[in-house]
This record gives sequence, C-alpha cells and structure tokens, in this order.
Amino acid sequence: MKRCINLAKKSAGRVSPNPLVGAIIFDDDFKVISEGRHEYYGGNHAERNAILTAQEDLRGKSIIVNLEPCCHYGKTPPCADLIIERGIKRVISGMVDPNPIVAGKGLERLKSAGIEVIQGVLEEECLELNKFFVKNQTKKLPYITIKTAVTLDGKIATRSNKSKWITDETSRAEVQKLRNSYDAILTGSGTIKYDNPSLTCRMKGGRNPVRVVLDTNLSTDESSKVYTDDGTRVIIIAGEKVSNSRIKEYPSHIEIEKCKLKNNKIDISTAVKILYEKGLRSIMTECGGLLNKSIIEEKLADELIQFIAPKLLGDTKAKSFAEGFDRNEINECNKLKIVSTKVLKQDIIVNSKFNY
Ligand SMILES: NC(=O)c1ccc[n+]([C@@H]2O[C@H](COP(=O)([O-])OP(=O)(O)OC[C@H]3O[C@@H](n4cnc5c(N)ncnc54)[C@H](OP(=O)(O)O)[C@@H]3O)[C@@H](O)[C@H]2O)c1
Repeated sequence: MKRCINLAKKSAGRVSPNPLVGAIIFDDDFKVISEGRHEYYGGNHAERNAILTAQEDLRGKSIIVNLEPCCHYGKTPPCADLIIERGIKRVISGMVDPNPIVAGKGLERLKSAGIEVIQGVLEEECLELNKFFVKNQTKKLPYITIKTAVTLDGKIATRSNKSKWITDETSRAEVQKLRNSYDAILTGSGTIKYDNPSLTCRMKGGRNPVRVVLDTNLSTDESSKVYTDDGTRVIIIAGEKVSNSRIKEYPSHIEIEKCKLKNNKIDISTAVKILYEKGLRSIMTECGGLLNKSIIEEKLADELIQFIAPKLLGDTKAKSFAEGFDRNEINECNKLKIVSTKVLKQDIIVNSKFNY
C-alpha cells in the first residue's frame, strides 16, 4: 500500500478534482505483474492502467489500490467491472470512496462477484493522501492550508513589512513542491503591495497553480508580477462595489469576480465558495497576518504548515502570522493537532491540522 501511495503521489497537482490513486497487480508470491496510476484528469483510472499494461493473464491474481474501485460510468467505464471481467481474485483497498455515488458500492459489486475484498489497509495514510478529495466530497468546499514562514517567535515580517528571507533556500524549495500540488495559491492585497510575489512554481517539471488575490477595492497595481499572463488562470476577488471602469484597467486574462463584503473586506466564506464553483479544490495561502486571521476566524482552514527559522525578531510591532488574532484566556486558544514535523537544513516544518 505504501508503494501504491507513492505511485499515486507522482500525479500530485494533475488530477484535480479527481483523487490520487495508484494500483499494483501481483501474484501469490508477491511478484509484481504491473502497476498503474491515475495520471491526469480525464485519463484512465489507476486500476485500468495497471490492468491494461499487464502482459499476462490476470486470472487468480490480486490487485492493491489505495481507493475503492469505482462502480459508475464517469469519464471512463467502471473499474470494478474490468476487475471482475479479468478474473482477478482478490482486491485490497485502502479506503472507501467518499463520493456518494460510489461509497462502498464498488466493493459490494466485487464481493457479489465472488472476489475476496480486504478493506482499510493503511486507511489513515490513504485518507491523508486524498485529504483534498475527502473534504470536497463531504463538505463541497476546497481544502485550505495556511502556509507561513515564521521566526521562532512567530513573526512573519518586520514592522516595516520586510520578510525576505526568513527561511533558507531549502525551505523555499519545499514551498515550490507545495505550489505544484495545490490547485491555487491565495493571497491578499497587502502581500501583493509589500512583496510583489509571482507565486508561480519553479520546481523542475512542476506546473503553476492558479493565483488568487483578495483585493477589496482593486487597489493593487495592474503590473504586479502575480498578474503576468503566463497561461495560468489569475483570479481577483474584489468587493461588490468596484467600478466596471476600474475592472477594465486590469489585463483581460484576469478573471475579476465581485463578492459581497463583511466589515468592509471581502466576505471570505463567500469568496471560498466562489472559488470552489470556479473548480478550485485545494487552496494554499501565502499571505500576511490579516488574511490568515480572517480564514482562521471563519473556521475555513484545514491545515497549517509552518516553516520555522531559528531566528528571533523580538519586536512586538513585527507582523505575526495571524494579525489581531486575540484570545484572552488560554482555554480560548484554537487547539491544533500536530501531524508531522520535519527538520530541514536549518529550518523545521511543523504541520498541524485544525480541530474545530
Ligand atoms: N512570512 C510569510 O510567510 C509571509 C507571507 C506573505 C506575506 N508576508 C508579509 O505579510 C505582510 C503583509 O501583511 P498583510 O496582512 O497586509 O497582507 P495580506 O493578508 O496578504 O493582505 C491583507 C489585505 O487583504 C485585503 N483583504 C480583503 N479581504 C480580506 C479579508 N476578508 N480578510 C483580510 N484581508 C482581506 C485587505 O486589503 P483591502 O481590503 O484593501 O483589499 C487586507 O488589508 C508583508 O510584510 C509581507 O511581507 C509574510
């Protein structure tokens, strides 16, 4: 199953809104006969690719797959039917498909055809692999990760908004990998004005994420790097009152969507729904403390990835990763669950899940 998961991961950033899936066919001596993965959206499912690349008769063989085989006609015919047709005798699955039109029915179909089904192998790892898909299917919302580069004392910029560079090149290379795996990067007008980032993916073989800017009054400069037309979608979520004449001043490839306001800023809950409707299933923020705070306060964040550099900034007026995020009592703190830590060259990555 670990090998299936690693195989599936090779398609990160290519299959949305579909799940990441890998499949391996093997015989009773555990000799691998073939393997396959879902490579891109619209392409064959993993099981189909594994079956079609096999050079031998599959009768009596086993298939292991991190997600329950499908039983419905989507862009391709049901994988469960193909497994039955080829005489495979055993299916080992990591997790049940959270898609309500499958949800256990794929495994049921296999069982009723007399196939041995083993379900739930490394289930937690499989759920983690497809965390975007699970959130989309169960909540009809994008999976949202807040990503920050912070000093040991939790600062993301100096009081004069300087943040280059808190973390080192090794951390920044990791960020490129993350950009490659999320559908979109979300930021606020503050970061565009102070940092002028491009938010593209410079990883070898990577692809650019969609860039999204929350800009209530369309006050960001039209020539900001993030608005460069490099063939990637760029979206600005603006306030409902912005004028059409101001909209026309932006380059025509930019999608500008008006959104209702809350406290004179973009209503972030509505904005996230708009982005889901626009097909964005996973979003990583790379923004300042103001937007991070709004996302946390509206209980929209699923995960927090902090790149922590062994530096102390100290200044109480330096910028925190969530600005104005005030709790008066310890028992009022948001409680997160740390799911992993990784020591890089000099920095560390702490990965936590929100727990609302
Ligand atoms: N170390 C890091 O990881 C990191 C990453 C990014 C940025 N930064 C630093 O963060 C600083 C900028 O911080 P910032 O807080 O000004 O930037 P920000 O969070 O990127 O942008 C905040 C701005 O977004 C707009 N906005 C629209 N709707 C919003 C909503 N619902 N909630 C919050 N904001 C909304 C607001 O301006 P309008 O209403 O005028 O549009 C607001 O002032 C810079 O110093 C930058 O270097 C650090």
